[in-house]
Amino acid sequence: MGIARQLLFICVIFSLSNVEGRTHFHKDKSKHTDKGTPVGLPPESESPADPPIPSDPNNPCVFDVTSFGAVGDGSTDDTEAFTSAWKAACAVESGVLYAPADYEFTITSTIFSGPCKPGFVFQLDGVLMPPSGPDCWPEGDSKKQWLVFYRVDGMTFTGSGTIEGNGEQWWELPCKPHRGPNGSTLPGPCDSPALIRFFMSVNVEVIGLRIQNSPQFHLKFDGCEGVLIEDLSIDSPALSPNTDGIHVQDTKYVGIYNSMIANGDDCISIGPGCSDVDINNVTCLHGHGISIGSLGVHNSQACVSNISVSNTYIKDSDNGVRIKTWQGGMGSVAGIRFENIEMDNVKNCIIIDQYYCFTKGCRNETSAVYVSDVSYKNIKGTYDVRSPPSYTLLPAATQSHVQI
Ligand SMILES: *[C@@H]1O[C@H](CO)[C@@H](O)[C@H](O)[C@H]1NC(C)=O
Ligand SMILES: *[C@@H]1O[C@H](CO)[C@@H](O)[C@H](O)[C@H]1NC(C)=O
Ligand SMILES: *[C@@H]1O[C@H](CO)[C@@H](O)[C@H](O)[C@H]1NC(C)=O
Ligand SMILES: *[C@@H]1O[C@H](CO)[C@@H](O)[C@H](O)[C@H]1NC(C)=O
Repeated sequence: MGIARQLLFICVIFSLSNVEGRTHFHKDKSKHTDKGTPVGLPPESESPADPPIPSDPNNPCVFDVTSFGAVGDGSTDDTEAFTSAWKAACAVESGVLYAPADYEFTITSTIFSGPCKPGFVFQLDGVLMPPSGPDCWPEGDSKKQWLVFYRVDGMTFTGSGTIEGNGEQWWELPCKPHRGPNGSTLPGPCDSPALIRFFMSVNVEVIGLRIQNSPQFHLKFDGCEGVLIEDLSIDSPALSPNTDGIHVQDTKYVGIYNSMIANGDDCISIGPGCSDVDINNVTCLHGHGISIGSLGVHNSQACVSNISVSNTYIKDSDNGVRIKTWQGGMGSVAGIRFENIEMDNVKNCIIIDQYYCFTKGCRNETSAVYVSDVSYKNIKGTYDVRSPPSYTLLPAATQSHVQI
């Protein structure tokens, strides 16, 4: 009891000392002043802050969304409860935003802004999902993203729960490949939300969660540094368009370990501006394999270096390990290691494509992203007979910059 009191006291002190404004947080500030917990607002513009109310007196740093009004019945909009619980938990040291098991929480597209106090954990044991499909998406919400963590510094997103993307109706939009009338593809706009995005954040961990049926990318990191992904299970159908499992760009120091990814596009894609990415013990099912690129689109400069992919199993996939660059780009891909990779019924097992292009007859250009120091060691398995094993080099017309 004495210890619990002392902890509570410490939490209160931290919450009172949090004077950080989070202007990115609200679409409509007036809607989010509930629960008497205006932590995160500058004190000079508000009456004195009440301390956040922890949900569990024995665990004073745990902020249960149900104590903030979340209903979790699979249809009620619980966005405000989550944003309020985020503010409260984020403001105390070792704060935990807790979404308990046996509930299905629905929230709309939300930006959760940091930084939070050290040791912040988002613990999801229940189900968390967005509104189901474009027709239910609120008018004013971004259709490009759903859960966004912005400027967080030190955060763990974990739990035994599931993030259910409700992606089916997005996949069936007539602008998606071959989903129009009679297998056609109608012109866009075709925006579909990435399920989880970490943007401009450092030292983030995503551990143990199940993430499924994303409308578009499942998990995306851009402008981040220090990312640890472990024990994830990502699951979407083979024919779900653009559902990359994990996408990183402009991101450094990434570890992706012990995870299962089944989806309809790249299992893991590594975009421009990435370095020091370590992938180990990942299983990729029926998607497009592990991809570096595409790089250099629209004559842009792209640099990717020090990427290691090891102890990985790729099954029933369109590609195995791939590097793809647009012609006309600049920059370099260097220091790439593929080691101990087993493939089972894969079409293009190893491919470096320097002429990446969606249509036939792309313009021939004179520059290319320089590809060097790529090594393949102990890659084995079976291939799809329609494309025998080989590495395929399709160099840009006037220059070929590949050393293996
Ligand atoms: C689809 O194809 C069928 C049979 O070829 C044709 O009768 C029908 O008009 C087509 N529908 C559209 C929307 O193009
Ligand atoms: C590899 O990852 C799987 C989960 O996909 C896990 O069950 C297994 O224990 C991991 N293997 C090692 C050697 O860590
Ligand atoms: C390569 O990346 C790993 C992390 O994946 C890092 O530990 C290592 O220091 C990097 N090596 C170089 C030469 O930058
Ligand atoms: C590009 O160059 C290749 C090889 O020289 C040639 O076969 C092809 O027709 C050219 N494409 C265009 C669009 O000029």
